[in-house]
Amino acid sequence: MYNYEKSVYYQPRIVFRFEFYSLIKLRPNITYYGHSCFLVELSGKNILFDPFISPNPKASMIDISTIKPDLVVISHGHGDHIADAVSICKQSQAQVISVYEITEWLSAQGVTNGLPMNIGGSINLGFCSIKMVKAEHSSSFPDGSYAGSAVGFVIKTPEVCFYYAGDTALTLDMQLIPLEYELDFAFLPIGDNFTMGISDAVKAAKLIDSKKIIGMHFDTFTPIEIDHKSAYASFSDASIQLILPLINQTFEL
Ligand code: NI
Ligand code: MN
Repeated sequence: MYNYEKSVYYQPRIVFRFEFYSLIKLRPNITYYGHSCFLVELSGKNILFDPFISPNPKASMIDISTIKPDLVVISHGHGDHIADAVSICKQSQAQVISVYEITEWLSAQGVTNGLPMNIGGSINLGFCSIKMVKAEHSSSFPDGSYAGSAVGFVIKTPEVCFYYAGDTALTLDMQLIPLEYELDFAFLPIGDNFTMGISDAVKAAKLIDSKKIIGMHFDTFTPIEIDHKSAYASFSDASIQLILPLINQTFEL
């Protein structure tokens, strides 16, 4: 019988397929829906972070009925992070990762496929693993009720690893992340007033040891408007790449 395993025709195919596969996985597609809301396509799955789109006048060109993620990840209960969570979760049947208090709140509104976590915990979803990490911020629902702790997330696949900080101040806890993970990029808030501003975000990028930062939580409202030129300059002075995405833009990383 012919041994296909040892065939010279067979082996180059493996090499080609491996390289092609690696190329795709190393460069996730990211779509910015404004404020802190991103859709990250990873290993063929779509992860949506902090859905706040329909109340955002700057994102009025986006039709949320077309957004069908496989997973929705929510950092805290403030309206500018969860406004569209119920409708998008219902239309997509996505699983939801958040703190227990938020998955319970969603469940009371008919979104029952929540995967509750708390700070320090990890979960393996097969296509990726997610660790819930600390954020230094408050958290309550739009009606003022208790929404648990504000959190961030580290998402890891065999090919890519990134940090989504949510709303947070600069905090020394960020130093713990590079002890465990080698980040390819990170989403950091940079708008100041409610979260870190630009100079603290540069310090945060150093603490987490990430050379590629996607800015978020800027320009949506007057108090968080930033000067883009000085933001780019501050990061490039520290030899860190800053990306300030355009709303409704998809880019490759
Ligand atoms: Ni907030
Ligand atoms: Mn916020």
